[in-house]
Amino acid sequence: MPHRETTLTEFIIREQRRFPHATGDFTGLLNYIRLACKRISFVVGRGALGGATGAAGSANVQGETQMKLDVLSNDIFLRTNEYGGHLAAMASEEMDEPYVVADPELRGKYLLAFDPLDGSSNIDVNVSVGSIFSVLKCPEGVTEPATRHFLQPGTQQLCAGYAVYGPTTMLVLTLGNGVHGFTLDRGFGEFILTHPDMRIPEDTREFAINTSNERFWEPPVKRYVEECVAGRGGPRGADFNMRWIASMVAEVHRILIRGGLFMYPRDTKDPAKPGRLRLMYEANPMAMIVEQAGGAASTGRGRILEVQPEGLHQRVPVILGSRNEVERIERYHRETDEGLDQPYSSPLFKERSLFTQ
Ligand code: F6P
Repeated sequence: MPHRETTLTEFIIREQRRFPHATGDFTGLLNYIRLACKRISFVVGRGALGGATGAAGSANVQGETQMKLDVLSNDIFLRTNEYGGHLAAMASEEMDEPYVVADPELRGKYLLAFDPLDGSSNIDVNVSVGSIFSVLKCPEGVTEPATRHFLQPGTQQLCAGYAVYGPTTMLVLTLGNGVHGFTLDRGFGEFILTHPDMRIPEDTREFAINTSNERFWEPPVKRYVEECVAGRGGPRGADFNMRWIASMVAEVHRILIRGGLFMYPRDTKDPAKPGRLRLMYEANPMAMIVEQAGGAASTGRGRILEVQPEGLHQRVPVILGSRNEVERIERYHRETDEGLDQPYSSPLFKERSLFTQ
């Protein structure tokens, strides 16, 4: 047979064939997730032509302003995936409580957690945004799923992925057997396997962090960034580059393509929030993808995937990307906690800054 490209549908069917007892349910679910991402890609791509730019005039459970496309994308994810009949319930950044599939006859055996449109502050300025998703098994015997059934550590995820809506739309997926990237062929409307077995280089000279929060960072993060910024003449003996897109999907995608480090660490901006990013539908799926690609994902003090969730919208510090840099920052956290990194752990350090020594 002549060689031709592999579509996402074919890829999923091939994966299913590795499990002789598979019922096809999971394959069906992935097909609906893929359809939801295609629909969102279409409305995002229409921009102002679709009349969906601008604020929705509402706020989500975190008190953040919702954009019209946040609300629309959430609706697309819910409606498309409910129809498939593979899910018992869905949880999203945009909803306080999980949505339980209304018709008990249509309730399936999986749970889906998602962020329908990550990085939505970028929508109106035409910069990449994305959707993030995580699939969990609904615990055996549960017919009325609730928040507590979602609170499983990231190690329990069956599948994680994201779609990035940028110059091209790509869907990047892991089923626990490596990470594979598919590009949407807009001509015939199918995702094509273009990036098989994506791997994150162990080393990098590129980091991403919002430095406007510098005064709120903990000493190990200040130390790390200060050493990078010091460049060739500093302790790292090398010049570093910095990026900040303010869209986690786009940052993780860059890291999968060419390596790098992404941080939204714990800070003291709001003591009630140990970080900005949400565990269930941002940090966990991205951590699974990054680990499956050979990288590392940490809170600074442990593996993200091992955090026991306590709430649907719980926040967590996130440090992920090239393995050797993540491990270095974990070491800096340990040294701070043990008081071994003077002057970084001394109160005097709090007076210093990246820009004023
Ligand atoms: O809410 C998630 C998110 O939009 C991420 O995609 C992104 O990395 C971050 O928030 C941006 O935060 P900030 O507004 O502080 O740059």
